[in-house]
Order: sequence, then structure tokens, then C-alpha cells
Amino acid sequence: MIELYDPSVYERGVPYRDLAWLREHSPVHWHRDPQTPGFWAVTRHADVVHVSRHPELFSSYEGLAMSGEYPEPDKELQRLLMLNQDPPEHSKRRSLVNKGFTPRMIGKLEQHIREVCDDLIDRCSGEGDFVTQVAAPLPLQVICELLGAPVEDRDLLFDLSNRLIGWDDPEFQTTYEDGQAAGTELMAYGNALAADRVEDPRDDLITRMITPDADGAVLSPDDVGMFTILLAVAGNETTRNAASLGMKAFFDHPEQWRRLVANPSLLDTAVEEIVRWATPVMQFRRTAMTDTTIGGQPVSRGDKIVVYYSAANRDPSVFARPDVFDIGRDPNPHLGFGGGGPHFCLGAHLARMELRVLFETIARRLPDIAPAGEVRRLRSNFINGIKEMRVSFGPPS
Ligand code: HEM
Repeated sequence: MIELYDPSVYERGVPYRDLAWLREHSPVHWHRDPQTPGFWAVTRHADVVHVSRHPELFSSYEGLAMSGEYPEPDKELQRLLMLNQDPPEHSKRRSLVNKGFTPRMIGKLEQHIREVCDDLIDRCSGEGDFVTQVAAPLPLQVICELLGAPVEDRDLLFDLSNRLIGWDDPEFQTTYEDGQAAGTELMAYGNALAADRVEDPRDDLITRMITPDADGAVLSPDDVGMFTILLAVAGNETTRNAASLGMKAFFDHPEQWRRLVANPSLLDTAVEEIVRWATPVMQFRRTAMTDTTIGGQPVSRGDKIVVYYSAANRDPSVFARPDVFDIGRDPNPHLGFGGGGPHFCLGAHLARMELRVLFETIARRLPDIAPAGEVRRLRSNFINGIKEMRVSFGPPS
């Protein structure tokens, strides 16, 4: 059986065949793990939804990383992160940050996103790297805009979020401690932004978060710091990899690219299919709060439960021809943004908009874009990522 926790497995690509085997033969599978007491690997769509929607049975509070516990000193800090909280604490914090993600706030970003995409494409000609030239800068610039951070800080945020998420990839660093150091730096960065907005309020996300709502509730500076970490990772790595893996999917299925170029009205369904196909966040972990069952399989209080969105998104009981990339797929109830529980991706509307505008711009301005060499994958059992993808851009129009 494949070692699902081993990050090097994913360097060769998501092990879809092994996940399909599990989904069919052992959908709630006890997976031995040399680093921890082991975990249940949950691979069916219905079971991933069940676990996600029952935080009273499956808690986020004990940690989300597949490989092991947070070291004791980090635990309390990690629990300031919304992703690591359960209702009702989570619901309070989520309602405070929701203020920055209303349709009005996100709608205001559309024009900015168009300008960023056009600017990025203006710089693309001949051959280059799709990841560093297009996919990575877009979400970074959007996060900078959202936070009200100066655009010159883009490279700093890029470096810190790479180090934070890439701690299983030796190219970024070699130690867990270095990842923690990057987290501390990001937190300090967020705290400094918050302190600045107290002095100089603006029409941006940080100002909204530190402004008391009708009930007087407000985020503390530490909360703002932790939220900056969350955004730097959740908003960057995910969208970057959806864009890169989406482009790669079109390279692997050129007939779908021609279909999109000829028919931009398919953009909305194309974006959903890209997120299903790529599933940039492959899995999240929960912990069973009580003895219970998942899909009929008994699990015990304290057991670790890993939900595999990557496997659920190719479940043939939900998706017809799940291994076909079809940009007209509709309906498409994928779990790329989570299983619909309280932690459902806060940035889903923003991510959809970024991907829609990006692929609309590429299809219009770089219709002849083509692969031109190596694709280097991230070494991670959590993020489905590409570090480099050489492409021939063709002349921009
Ligand atoms: C949570 C995926 C883009 C912010 C999540 C979760 C997933 C996910 C799987 C966990 C859901 C769960 O546990 O039920 C993605 C994907 C993206 C993306 C695939 C891009 C294609 C973004 C963006 C932002 C963002 C652009 C913000 C700028 C968040 C936050 C959470 C989250 C704050 C935690 C929500 C909570 O704990 O309540 N995302 N995400 N994400 N995402 Fe995203």
C-alpha cells in the first residue's frame, strides 16, 4: 500500500490510482504512519462531506497537519488560527473576518485583478516560467491589495509563504523550525499592519477587522497577525497552484483549451472544473471527539481522520467520467474548497474571480500558449503544487 504521508510520493504526482483503490475497497482506511499513531484515510465524497459538516464529532482544535502534532509550545499559538478552531469560538472569529469578504469587498477587487492580469501578460513573451511569471504574482498582488500592504512587500510575502508551506520541500528549507520562523515573521508583519491602521484607518480589510462591529466585537492584534498568516498561505499557494495546474490541464487536454478560446462563456464551468481537477489542497485532518462511525466504519475517540478532497473529487458515484477533464461539466459539486462545513473556504468567491479573469485574459491574449519543457512539482503531502512550468507564451496581443 502506498505511504500516503510520504511527501516524496506527491513529487511524482497525486497518486490517483491508489486513492481510487482505497475509495473502492477501503473507503475509511486505517493508515499506519511511522511518525504518529496513524490515521483514518477518508476517500469517498459522502464521507468527506459528513466529517466536514460535523465539527462536534470531528474537531479541528487538535491540529490539521497530517504528519503529527504541533510541538507543545506551538499549540496555543496555532489555536489562534481560525482553521484550528471549532464552533462557537470559530463562528465568532469567522463572522469578524467575513466583513472583508462580502460581495461588495470582493467586487471592488475585480477591476484591480483585471489590471494585474493584463500587466502580467504584457510582460510575457517568448519562453518563460508560468509559475513565477503569472500564477504566483497574481494572488500575491491581490492579497497585498486586500490587506492594504505595499506592493513592494510582494517578494517578502512570497518568500515567507513558500517557507511556511514548503517545509517538506528541501528547496525552500530543511527544518520545521524554519517554517515556524517564517510564521512568526508573517505574524509580526500582520501586527505591524494592524498598528499602522489604528493610526491611519483606510478602506481595507485590516481596518475593517480592527474596527469594532455593532456588538463591539473586534479582532486583537494577535488575531490580525494570525489571520495574515492564514491569508498568506490560504490565499496564495492555493490560487497559484489552481492557476498552474489548470494551465497544465489545458496543455494535457488541448481540445479543452481550443474549446475555451472559442467559447469564453464556458469560463465559469471551466473554473469549477479546474478546481476539481487540480484540488490544490489535497487533504485536511480532524480528530474524532467521541466514538462514532464514518460510512459505517467505527472510529474511536481521539483517532486522527484525514479527509482526501483529491479522492472525493474523483468519486464516480458523484462525477460521471471523473478522470476526464471537461470544462463544460455541470453540475460540479466538487470539494476543492472544502466539504461545506464551518471552515468552507472563506476566499472561494475571490479565488473563483481571480481564476476566471486570469484564464479569460490568457485565452484572449495568449491563445497559442504551449508547454516548453520541465514541470517541477512541490514535495508536499498537503498542497498539490507546481514550482516551475516552462512555457512558450507566444507573442501577447
Ligand atoms: C479554507 C481551499 C483560495 C482563504 C480552505 C479550505 C480549503 C480551501 C480546502 C478548508 C475547508 C474546510 O476545512 O472545510 C482553497 C482553494 C483555493 C482557496 C482550492 C483556490 C483555488 C483562498 C483564498 C483565500 C482563502 C483566495 C483568501 C484570500 C481561506 C481561509 C480559510 C480557507 C481564511 C479558513 C476558513 C475557516 O477556517 O473558517 N480553503 N482556498 N482561500 N480558505 Fe481557501
